[in-house]
Amino acid sequence: MSAIYQRASVRQYTNDPVTDDDVRAILRAAMAAPSAGNQQPWEFWVTRDEAKREELAAASKYATPCRRAPLVLTFCLRIEARFPSMLQQDMGACVENALIEAADLGLGAVWMGIYPEADRMEAVRAALALPDGVEPFALVAVGHPADTPEPQGAARFDDTRIHWE
Ligand SMILES: Cc1cc2nc3c(=O)[nH]c(=O)nc-3n(C[C@H](O)[C@H](O)[C@H](O)COP(=O)(O)O)c2cc1C
Repeated sequence: MSAIYQRASVRQYTNDPVTDDDVRAILRAAMAAPSAGNQQPWEFWVTRDEAKREELAAASKYATPCRRAPLVLTFCLRIEARFPSMLQQDMGACVENALIEAADLGLGAVWMGIYPEADRMEAVRAALALPDGVEPFALVAVGHPADTPEPQGAARFDDTRIHWE
């Protein structure tokens, strides 16, 4: 699947807006992810407001793309789940699907880690006034790319990491 190899973290964006259709396409891919027992623990917050994006950018010293992107997706998880120990794995698959779809749409995106850093989680919770029962997992800044970093994924293949029995 070539979209996997076309994806790279993009941290610079033009001012062009990201359409609601593109947001729905990205989140449709996110919700297509596998999850333990098909528990689908995800909830998504979509933020365009500049002041809110600024608050999200302040949640982590590595979250400055939130300031530059026209749109930030906050990936959250429902705490109440049948298989709580699997929640982070479910959410990782969900975020990765979203990044691949964004790349396939010609958009640029970057994953910013929030969970399980308590200070980052609290900052995102406050910025978005998240309800009880929901925890922030990751931020994904999305925009039209203003730079085109060379995708590195294909070059990471390392035959020595494969252990045949
Ligand atoms: C769990 C996780 C957390 C990350 N957090 C950040 C972050 O806070 N800020 C950032 O700019 N990039 C972040 N990244 C992106 C990585 O830096 C990036 O994926 C890595 O350098 C490989 O580059 P590539 O995505 O272009 O292949 C994160 C990626 C993952 C998977």
